[in-house]
Amino acid sequence: MSTRRKSIVAGNWKMNLDAAKARSLTEAIAAGAKQTGSVDLVLCPPALYATTVAAALGLAAGVAPSGVALGGQNAHDKESGAFTGEVAPGMLRDIGSRYCILGHSERRTLFGETDATVNAKVKAVLAAGLTPIVCVGESLAERESGRTEAVVTEQVLGSLAGIPADDLATIVVAYEPVWAIGTGKVATPQQAQDVHALVRALLGRLSSPTVADTIRIQYGGSVKPDNAAELAACPDIDGALVGGASLKADDFLAIAKAFG
Ligand code: PGA
Repeated sequence: MSTRRKSIVAGNWKMNLDAAKARSLTEAIAAGAKQTGSVDLVLCPPALYATTVAAALGLAAGVAPSGVALGGQNAHDKESGAFTGEVAPGMLRDIGSRYCILGHSERRTLFGETDATVNAKVKAVLAAGLTPIVCVGESLAERESGRTEAVVTEQVLGSLAGIPADDLATIVVAYEPVWAIGTGKVATPQQAQDVHALVRALLGRLSSPTVADTIRIQYGGSVKPDNAAELAACPDIDGALVGGASLKADDFLAIAKAFG
């Protein structure tokens, strides 16, 4: 965590919960949010429950009394049209979202998203006035064969190609080693810090070191209350993208507090 950057902790609920549980989880997190200190909090529910969460947050023009913001888990790269089953960035914005996760490893591996797809989505999400949370990270096989740096470099440069420095300054990047997602195997603080420093250097190449210094880079992959503090202590880790532990209000708030 850096004193120059405010940390951001986002909950990625994935395809979990029902409407009643989404509402009660949101209410519990909103009630505890003021005690988490100086940290931005974001909830990314399934698209179908986004309005439920927006209502539970009391969202008006993207701002909730609790300060907790709403985000999408994915979006299409077009504004509207014949794309059955998809959600447009403007629709997320319309119901009060301020963020959108893009290029999550589950989207990349299970739904065929490439760096080019993610790049188009990043541009569309920025155009809709949302902040993209752009995910990158290597698989276990890639790490074990010494390819982490090459893979992350390709993903960052490909996913963020052609984004002007002014826009880059507003985005969030999430480093999520695929082998750590949902496995209980968290990266060591040193492993995470090393890749975060690489990502920041790459962002500097795409913009300038001064701009890169302002961009928030989250760590994701089995973040829990008991490992959040040591990750938060790393100089280039500016928050967390939390899956499993974001489904429990107490755990999510404890992680937020570690970064606050
Ligand atoms: P996890 O998921 O916290 O359950 O490992 C993180 C993510 O997929 O964003």
